[in-house]
Amino acid sequence: MKKTLATGAILALLSAQSLMADKIKVGLMLPYSGTFTALGVNIENGFRLFVNEQGGKLAGREIEFIKLDDESDPAKAADNATRLSQKDKVDVMVGTVHSGVALAMAKVAKDNNNLLIIPNAGADALTGALCDKNIFRASFSNWQPGYATGLMAAQKGAKKMMTLTWKYAAGDETVAGFKEAFTSKGGQVVKELSLPFPQVDFAPLITEIANTKPDALFVFFSGGAATKFLKDYIDAGLKDKIPLYASGFLTEGALVEGVNTDGIYTTLHYADNVDTPKDKAFEASYKKAYNNAIPDVFSVQGYDAAQLLNAGLVAVKGDISNRAGVVKGMEDAKIASPRGEFTMSKAHNPIQDFYIRKAKGTKNISEGTIVKALADPARGCTMQ
Ligand code: BEZ
Repeated sequence: MKKTLATGAILALLSAQSLMADKIKVGLMLPYSGTFTALGVNIENGFRLFVNEQGGKLAGREIEFIKLDDESDPAKAADNATRLSQKDKVDVMVGTVHSGVALAMAKVAKDNNNLLIIPNAGADALTGALCDKNIFRASFSNWQPGYATGLMAAQKGAKKMMTLTWKYAAGDETVAGFKEAFTSKGGQVVKELSLPFPQVDFAPLITEIANTKPDALFVFFSGGAATKFLKDYIDAGLKDKIPLYASGFLTEGALVEGVNTDGIYTTLHYADNVDTPKDKAFEASYKKAYNNAIPDVFSVQGYDAAQLLNAGLVAVKGDISNRAGVVKGMEDAKIASPRGEFTMSKAHNPIQDFYIRKAKGTKNISEGTIVKALADPARGCTMQ
């Protein structure tokens, strides 16, 4: 009897040791081509930075990365995510930037019982009608920056505004959040303009804005296209006539030398001068790791996606097969983010502060918060 117990204990120890020796496979499904390339790269940089700061291990487990370029193409998204899940057999999927691609990833994750951490894509349904115990977001819902910007625009005194965006989930939902807040404060949206993702032929739309003469313009664009839009808007002479009150994605990583974007107001859950000890340490560490590159919100979201995974793994001492324990650890996490500390809502979306930012040079300088601890309404989520 004694001998059997001893053998059992030894076997358990050996199997625990072999489990800890296996690497945890992280599937990074991100855009490495197209207008969102820089966003994908910065998310990966942020994620890897946190892992490297822990000596390459999370909760004692080495991390192996498998990378996939999703091209921000929703038509390829289900196949790409299925490859990570079924062929590469990753332990956790981390992705992505584009809302439409992330919606397809979420379906694959649900169908195959995979853990999914979203480091950017804001599609409201991911932590709304499609919320799931295995799906977490380290970034924001589209509603959140839209809503925060609506509050800011009203505070700045705009009464009649136009909106302009790409016609897809992120654009539509950010505009919806903006309208919800702006109209609740008595504002009116007089015209809504859009163009298909990822088109950048802004000229006819800018002409229509100039002719309509709203008090201000709300915009959602991001990545390479955002830089082009800013240049086109400034070249048309509109920046000082029809102010931009935009979701911070318009100016995040998109301000370049030689284009005078000074004075453009946006809101976002990060700014260049958060300047807390955590943010300062993060910036120094990021610059050291990446050739003096300045981190942006995408770097922060990647870093926090890794922090979130770490919280789940620490809770189960590295045993990622204990899914319920990992999920509980992530649900209970208080993330010490460079953006400021945040917690997870019941629907698994960050509850976080939004900053008012004014562009100066290539920086987005915070003038304080427009709203604190903003939680997405998580409409349609049954986990609440
Ligand atoms: C999105 O598609 O959800 C998205 C893309 C870029 C910036 C923000 C949101």
